[in-house]
Amino acid sequence: MSTDTAPAATADATREAARRRTFAIISHPDAGKSTMTEALALHAQVINEAGAVHGKAGRRSTVSDWMDMEKARGISITSAALQFAFGDHVVNLVDTPGHSDFSEDTYRVLSAVDAAVMLIDAAKGLEPQTLKLFRVCKARGLPVITVINKWDRPGLEALALMDEIYRDIGLQPTPLTWPVGIAGDFKGVLERRTGEYVAYTRTAGGATRAPEEWMDADAAAAREGVDWSTAVEESELLEADGATHDQELFLDGITTPVLFASAISNFGVAALLETLVELAPPAAAFAYDKGGTPERREVGEPFSAFVFKVQAGMDTQHRDRVAFARVTSGAFERGMVVTHAQTGRPFATKYAQAIFGRERSALDTAYPGDIIGLVNAGALKPGDTLYLDAPVEFPPIATFAPEHFAVASSADTSKSKQFRKGIDQLDSEGVVQVLRSDLRGNQSPVLAAVGPMQFEVVQARMEAEFGAAIRLETLSYTQARRTDAASAAELDSLRSVEVLQRNDGSYLLLAPDKWRISTIERDHPELTLEPLLAGE
Ligand code: G4P
Repeated sequence: MSTDTAPAATADATREAARRRTFAIISHPDAGKSTMTEALALHAQVINEAGAVHGKAGRRSTVSDWMDMEKARGISITSAALQFAFGDHVVNLVDTPGHSDFSEDTYRVLSAVDAAVMLIDAAKGLEPQTLKLFRVCKARGLPVITVINKWDRPGLEALALMDEIYRDIGLQPTPLTWPVGIAGDFKGVLERRTGEYVAYTRTAGGATRAPEEWMDADAAAAREGVDWSTAVEESELLEADGATHDQELFLDGITTPVLFASAISNFGVAALLETLVELAPPAAAFAYDKGGTPERREVGEPFSAFVFKVQAGMDTQHRDRVAFARVTSGAFERGMVVTHAQTGRPFATKYAQAIFGRERSALDTAYPGDIIGLVNAGALKPGDTLYLDAPVEFPPIATFAPEHFAVASSADTSKSKQFRKGIDQLDSEGVVQVLRSDLRGNQSPVLAAVGPMQFEVVQARMEAEFGAAIRLETLSYTQARRTDAASAAELDSLRSVEVLQRNDGSYLLLAPDKWRISTIERDHPELTLEPLLAGE
């Protein structure tokens, strides 16, 4: 980019960043993430027909089906971003792989967003996958907006759900809306900030935008009687308890604004979009380390982005690799030649794309907060930085605590070279963590994963791309802790545990369960054992 255009580009990027809202939905499978994604896009009028984003049986499908495995299971294991305009804002919804076999990618997505929407099924409350993802949000300092979904169906009491959130994850809920009518009899919501009533009207199959009727408290009381007075009383209880929105506490991760919704009927969907735009933070500066000094890459500085996910084999016609990068500063223009910080090499962005599901379109410009898909990105790995002009290198994405372990070996011993090459490649892409020890040797490394589906991806890719079919033998460990060189030998000599090394030289202790970890901590307080993020 020539220096004459720099001031204009800076102003552009700063202005564009301010209107970006980039978020992900964290939820347990079946809570309604796909339905809510559709409803949000529908409401923002990106698509006119519910069902065009994440297909389920019988609906028009654009769900990714790049890999046979996905096809067989009817699930999406890729992640990309859905972008839509909403009023003066641009909303980027970064997709999180949603199956219970979720993987490290699900966690990595959370390093590319500025806020999270925690979607909870009203009948089930907080479920395990939501809790795991919440811990990652907390570690990353992401503000969380909570949505209680499926209020059209019988469920828990609203106040009980608020207690559960506070008790189980320590976030103080500050409901913005409060339901009128119990779960299963969703009439509308009390807008707690104005005291108004928003009455919802059901439409056939929720196929169009649900009509909303706004009215004052008197009209609401006349219309809903005891349901309205109950909502008002409960809201007053919340107020007495200090459960009132405070922007600073929300951004600090101390409180969570709560909305009640029924994604399937489009109730509360408009409120969620408006809340995102009003309360979620815009794309802002990213921190990095400059020779030991903490620095920030301001959004108006020259282009930079970091890769949060690499997807291979998305298109079976062209065996390509797509790196998904989040723009952190500056204006991106397709065709720019940027620098790959980790290698110092130039990277041409001729093939940048906006990718969501199976839909791809060439992407010409992007700004902070946007997600770009870079095709033919053989050299890029999760955590890598790209930049223009002023060098920057963002810190690596934290690795997460694996919970599944298996020994990999080549099914055909004459393919040991391909085996090693493939395993190293998949390790560097972050498809799975590869652990080694002298004892196990190079031909039988331990694969460590957050979700068992990562093993299936390794198996499929080893065979298809490297011509080296593998055998996997599951190990009975479920726990990993970080340790160091000084403690490694002694830990390794203990019963029922094992110490292995990652390719970056760091040491991990694997143990069958938490109980074993506790006894080691008790018996050997002098040894180093530290929890890894999100699975402690
Ligand atoms: P996920 O992506 O989080 O896994 O959830 P998804 O949206 O696929 O929703 C899971 C099931 O819950 C779907 O039903 C969906 O229709 C239903 N659902 C989602 N939101 C609501 C809601 O607000 N109210 C009610 N009552 N149901 C909701 P399904 O029977 O599994 O699939 P489908 O045949 O209806 O598509």
